[in-house]
Amino acid sequence: MPVHIVVGGFFGDEGKGKTVAYLSLSRRPRAVARTGATNAGHTIVWRGRVWRLRAVPAGFVYSDALLYIARGALVDLEVLTREVEELGLRGRLRVDYMTGIITGEHRSREEASSHLSKLGSTKTGVGAAMSDRVLRRLRLARDYPELGDILADTQEELLGIHESGGLVLVEATQGYWLSLYHGTYPYVTSRDTTASAVLSELGLGPRSVERVTVVLKSFVTRVGKGPLPGEMPREEAVRRGLMEYGTVTGRPRRVAPFNYELARRAVRANTATDVAITKLDALYPEARCIREWDRLPREARQWIEEVESELGVPVSLIGTGEDVLCTVDKSGDLGL
Ligand code: IMP
Repeated sequence: MPVHIVVGGFFGDEGKGKTVAYLSLSRRPRAVARTGATNAGHTIVWRGRVWRLRAVPAGFVYSDALLYIARGALVDLEVLTREVEELGLRGRLRVDYMTGIITGEHRSREEASSHLSKLGSTKTGVGAAMSDRVLRRLRLARDYPELGDILADTQEELLGIHESGGLVLVEATQGYWLSLYHGTYPYVTSRDTTASAVLSELGLGPRSVERVTVVLKSFVTRVGKGPLPGEMPREEAVRRGLMEYGTVTGRPRRVAPFNYELARRAVRANTATDVAITKLDALYPEARCIREWDRLPREARQWIEEVESELGVPVSLIGTGEDVLCTVDKSGDLGL
């Protein structure tokens, strides 16, 4: 069973965390690996509890999976160790020797930058750490002996799992349109956010991939600055029940209707095998926490079918509520 990558198709915050949590419980991967950095957060609601996480992969909900932080990722040790202790993940989570480390100095440098303010950066030190890495002066996880047995050669372990037929589920961060190369530059993050980039961060090759799921929310949101086609006034977003607030910064998210043009490019550029649509219940309240396709309201099913025909790929998962289990799973019917 090869690699299954989950990436965002809009501007982040599409619901990758919930999607990865659901896939971890249903596909039972041997490993769940996270790429990206701690500017990105995810919220997981499961068994009546809410987790807001920034470092640990959302696959922690499936207790048999090993958890990995990619070699090309950047972590803030304060954030990481807090999450590892809170969730009791010592012994299950491994950080690569060569994962980059974000420090207070990186955060301060970003805090002081008026340029980053203009871009609406989260100012969590990620871009500053990334630039130090490019200049080859960033300290890596191996320089912190206190990390002890959390450290590993994650590339070697993931290659081993993959070669022995184990499933590796990969959780990317942010979304296609925040990519440093393909997004709305300069209003983008400090890394490429595509499925290809994710593989590079992990040190896995393109032929290891079986499935690429692009996650799209039923409407588009964006935090920070930059273009957002069809952006609606805040009052309208509130009236339509579409207001959201950032997991990391708490900032209100800007809102626009679902956008086929943005979605189509993300699907094509990531060579998506399938799409996960989240928050269907925001558009169709009667869909709330429905788990069977046949029980969804007719208009909601029609909209999903329209999405499939517009994007040219099947919709495998449909989110109908915050809880991980509020999901319609069509993967079986699709042979995925
Ligand atoms: P930075 O990567 O923190 O410098 O932020 C650059 C832009 O990317 C800003 O518009 C941020 O709001 C956005 N951004 C960074 N990470 C995320 C994320 O995880 N979700 C949504 N937007 C993000």
